[in-house]
Amino acid sequence: MTKPRILVARAIFPDIVDRLRQHFEVEANPEDVIWSPAELAARLADKDGAFTTGSQRIDADLLTAAPRLKIVANMAVGYNNFDVDAMTAAGVQGTNTPDVLTETTADFGFALLMATARRMTESEHYLRAGQWTKWSYDMFAGSDIHGSTLGIIGMGRIGQGIAKRGAHGFGMKVVYHNRSRLAANLEAECKATYVSKEELLATADHVMLVVPYSAASHHTIGAAELAQMKPSATLINIARGGIVDDAALAVALRERRIAAAGLDVFEGEPSVHPDLLTVPNVVLTPHIASATVPTRRAMADLAADNLIAFFEGRGALTPVNTPAPEAARAR
Ligand code: GLV
Repeated sequence: MTKPRILVARAIFPDIVDRLRQHFEVEANPEDVIWSPAELAARLADKDGAFTTGSQRIDADLLTAAPRLKIVANMAVGYNNFDVDAMTAAGVQGTNTPDVLTETTADFGFALLMATARRMTESEHYLRAGQWTKWSYDMFAGSDIHGSTLGIIGMGRIGQGIAKRGAHGFGMKVVYHNRSRLAANLEAECKATYVSKEELLATADHVMLVVPYSAASHHTIGAAELAQMKPSATLINIARGGIVDDAALAVALRERRIAAAGLDVFEGEPSVHPDLLTVPNVVLTPHIASATVPTRRAMADLAADNLIAFFEGRGALTPVNTPAPEAARAR
C-alpha cells in the first residue's frame, strides 16, 4: 500500500520527522528554508498532508494548487495563518496544538510582565554598556506587580493561567474582558472579575493581551485605547502581531503616555517597527512564549499525531474546523 505524502514545511525535531517517516512519504525541510507562497504551493501540489508552523499561509489559492491536500497540521495553538472558511469549503481538515503549551505560555506572559514592570532588560543594557558607576535611589525604579491590578484581554486557557498566577501567586486584583463571560466556577478559580474593555483599560496597572487574532481583534489596542490607559501602566502582548497598532504604541512609549510595554509578537514579524527598536521602555522578544524544549516537543508531537490519526481514519485529535463529509477530499 502506498503511504500518504506529506510536507513538513519547516525544520522540526529530527526524531519526530523520523517518526512521521514510519507512516508517510515525507518531504522535509531540514535547512529550514523560508519558501515563498509559490514555492510552498509547488511543493504541496502532490502532497496529501502538511505540517506547518504558523508562518505558512493556507488560503484558497494554495488549496487550488494542492488538489490532493486533505489536512494541514499547525504546530501552534493560533491558526490565523489558515483561511478556515476556504479550508472547510475545500474539504480540508485543519488542526492546531492547544493545551500542551498553556502553562508554558502563561509562565512566559508573567516573565515578560515582570521584566517589563521592573525594567530588567533596560537596566541590563545599561550595566553591560559600562554605564553603572554609582547607585542612586531612583535608578530603574519601576512599578509593582504584587497587589496591583492585572487586566487580561482574552480569557481562554492561557489567559486563565495568567490570572491564576497573578491572583494566587502575587495577590493581584484580576479583571478581565472577553467575548463571552466565563462560567462562575472558572471566575472563582481565577479570582477574576469581568469588566468592560473601557473599565479594564482605565483601571489596570498592567494590561495583558491573550486574545486570538481575527479581523475583529485587529488593533484591539490602538491610539484611542492607549490614551485610556493609566500613564503608569504597562502593556504586554503575547497574543499575535496586529492585535496592537505597533506604530501607535511606539509613539505612546516615546511620549511616556504609558510607562512600558513587553512584546513577544509584532505586526509583520519577523520585521519589527523601527521605532520600537529605539524606545528604551519596551522589552522585545522574538515570539518565544511557548519555547521550552518539552513544550515545543509536545507541540510537534501533537501536530504529528494529528496527521497520523487522520490518515489512520481515527479523525484529527485537535481539529479547528469540521469539513462536511461530502466535501472531504478522497483519501
Ligand atoms: C504561538 O504563537 C502559537 O500560536 O502557538
